[in-house]
Amino acid sequence: MNYTKKMLRDDALKGKTIVVTGGGSGLGKAMTTYFLELGANVVITSRNIEKLQAVKTELEAQTGGNVLPVQCDVRHYDQVEAMLKASVDAFGTVDVLLNNAAGNFISPTERLSANAFDTVIDIVLKGTKNCTLAFGKYWIEKKETEKVVLNIVTTYAWTGSAYVVPSATAKAGVLAMTRSLAVEWAKYGMRFNAIAPGPFPTKGAWDRLLPGDLKEKFDFSKKVPLKRVGEHQELANLAAYLVSDFSAYVNGEVITIDGGEWLKGAGQMNMLEEVPAEMWDMLEKMIRSKKNK
Ligand code: HXC
Ligand code: NAP
Repeated sequence: MNYTKKMLRDDALKGKTIVVTGGGSGLGKAMTTYFLELGANVVITSRNIEKLQAVKTELEAQTGGNVLPVQCDVRHYDQVEAMLKASVDAFGTVDVLLNNAAGNFISPTERLSANAFDTVIDIVLKGTKNCTLAFGKYWIEKKETEKVVLNIVTTYAWTGSAYVVPSATAKAGVLAMTRSLAVEWAKYGMRFNAIAPGPFPTKGAWDRLLPGDLKEKFDFSKKVPLKRVGEHQELANLAAYLVSDFSAYVNGEVITIDGGEWLKGAGQMNMLEEVPAEMWDMLEKMIRSKKNK
């Protein structure tokens, strides 16, 4: 056994219907694949219906599960309502909303137009709000319980980060929404949690965060105490647990899965990682020699 293996029992999500926004690529596709393997029906949504249809064909053949592709730009509330209706028409109800869709790119903030800033905020924060509000209202009105919302954020949702300011601003808002509704809507039988992934290579993220030779210059694995980037299956394992009934008492939590990356950047003396082992004898001697002086 290791972290690239599948974690939950085969029927862990049997009978559940899960909506994954941005489910046609990257981490959304990886989580969708595992949910299907665990017996769920999955609705995948994004702006590009041809891509979603190709993924449906691929994943149904690979897993034997049911995939419904629905075109939906999460920035538009009417499209989100139509996507919810299509999901309910196909599967009777929805049990889990996974807010995974995102937009992001690196840029000095002063180079951004107002529309560029808005575009990222609209996909990440407004899009998550649109889906959460539409699905939450529906579940409340229908008196359906045991529902789960899982939001994908980032570790800079709480630290902030230079050069991705719209994304950091929006993800911080998503984290606040997660924790707020975990309390407010628990009475309606909903749980809200978030995952904060560290670096998990995907084409969508790498093309926009590490274009050209930045990939070689800034190797993410060197920033991680565990000295590697994430494997998609280990994120899918965590997501499957959080949307399953096994996590029934987990509510309002953000789980970081980053190999210790953000803490390495945070701890004041973490730079001592650079000190070679043979230097510690000398340093210890110097410190001890100052005793009582
Ligand atoms: C400056 C830019 C820009 C850039 C776009 N714009 N790219 N400004 N630098 N590199 C500006 C445009 O000029 C325009 O402003 C505005 O942003 C909207 O751009 P459009 O191309 O019209 O928008 P749209 O087609 O809606 O595309 C949205 C997008 C795009 C966010 C710009 O990148 C996208 O579709 N992204 C989806 C996938 C994605 O981003 N995946 C990565 C998630 S990774 P003006 O003023 O000219 O109209 C992630 C990881 C976090 O979140 C942490 C990792 C460790
Ligand atoms: P990705 O493949 O680019 O995923 C983003 C998805 O969002 C795409 O499928 C895209 O599909 C969809 N999308 C974008 N704009 C949309 C809109 N307006 N309406 C509906 N769907 C839209 O990148 P990823 O790396 O897998 O990212 C997935 C999630 O993980 C994101 O929330 C991201 O912030 C988070 N994350 C990733 C990393 C990482 O290292 N990869 C680290 C931290 C957090 P279309 O283009 O077809 O619309």
